[in-house]
Amino acid sequence: MNIHTTETSNTRRSRLRIGVILIAVSLIALGHWWTPVAPAGLLGVHVLLRKLFLIPILLAAAWFNLRGALLAALAITLVFLSHVLLQWGGHTQENVNQIGEFVTIWSTAILAGWLVGKEKDALRRLSQTYEGALVALVMALDAREHDTQLHSLRVRGYAEHIATKMGISGNALIELSRGALLHDIGKIGVPDNILLKKGSLTSSERQIMQKHPEIGARLLRNVPHTDEAGIIVCAHHEKFDGTGYPKGIAGNDIPLGARIFAVADAFDALTSERPYQGAVTIADAVERLARDAGSHFDPEVIAVFVGVPAEDWSRIANSVGENDL
Ligand SMILES: [Fe+2]
Repeated sequence: MNIHTTETSNTRRSRLRIGVILIAVSLIALGHWWTPVAPAGLLGVHVLLRKLFLIPILLAAAWFNLRGALLAALAITLVFLSHVLLQWGGHTQENVNQIGEFVTIWSTAILAGWLVGKEKDALRRLSQTYEGALVALVMALDAREHDTQLHSLRVRGYAEHIATKMGISGNALIELSRGALLHDIGKIGVPDNILLKKGSLTSSERQIMQKHPEIGARLLRNVPHTDEAGIIVCAHHEKFDGTGYPKGIAGNDIPLGARIFAVADAFDALTSERPYQGAVTIADAVERLARDAGSHFDPEVIAVFVGVPAEDWSRIANSVGENDL
């Protein structure tokens, strides 16, 4: 994933959230400040408005954990304290009430911030376990077919990089990444004598082999959060001119994730050392793939792919080995 792009969108989102919290605090403070305390009906509104200060605290806790909740509580304390000192100095009974309000504000901030932090930690661990299980499964499958366990991980890295350059981000990028990682999971259903056969396959063997995209998609129906990934898995051997399998769909009928994947997969196949073929250089691989724009590959994907500097590919290939073994 392009780290810079992700950081930029995260920063933008954080700024937006800080803005929402500050606007909420300001609107509540102004509403509270300007609402008179008589008659009794308006006093009720005045008191109710100060209770609303809990909303920005809860938002800050949800978005920025304990630190955010405490900073929101501090901002509210400063705003509310100036109101208390300027408008309620000497009203002992009301001041006691207001001290109670401060206690509510700070205890809510501490508890909400702490609980949200714990919840997020638990979710992060769960997500890491889920991703780790998928990676372990894929590496085991890769080890069966390839000399290295890193094929699918590298393809995932390449596909993510092309996708990011094409402006894909957020959930769409996560789904594409998962589809690229799991693309050959259906080979679990292909017998060794076909999968590992050195010579060319007979037509009946080829038919069995070519079932693996659909087997993979079927397997993924039972795995949570892989709906879109399953679509990419099913289409990962389709070709842009319609000569691929299993459906023989063409052009934009092939999901974009699968069109991006096809380039990443072929690039890895060419640049990896294999028993029957030595690795070609990155420049040669890019040139060969570019020749197949419009036949095997989507020309728009190829246009982006050829513009990626060679050092990006080397960096991704090296980082896959370091991070995942
Ligand atoms: Fe495949």
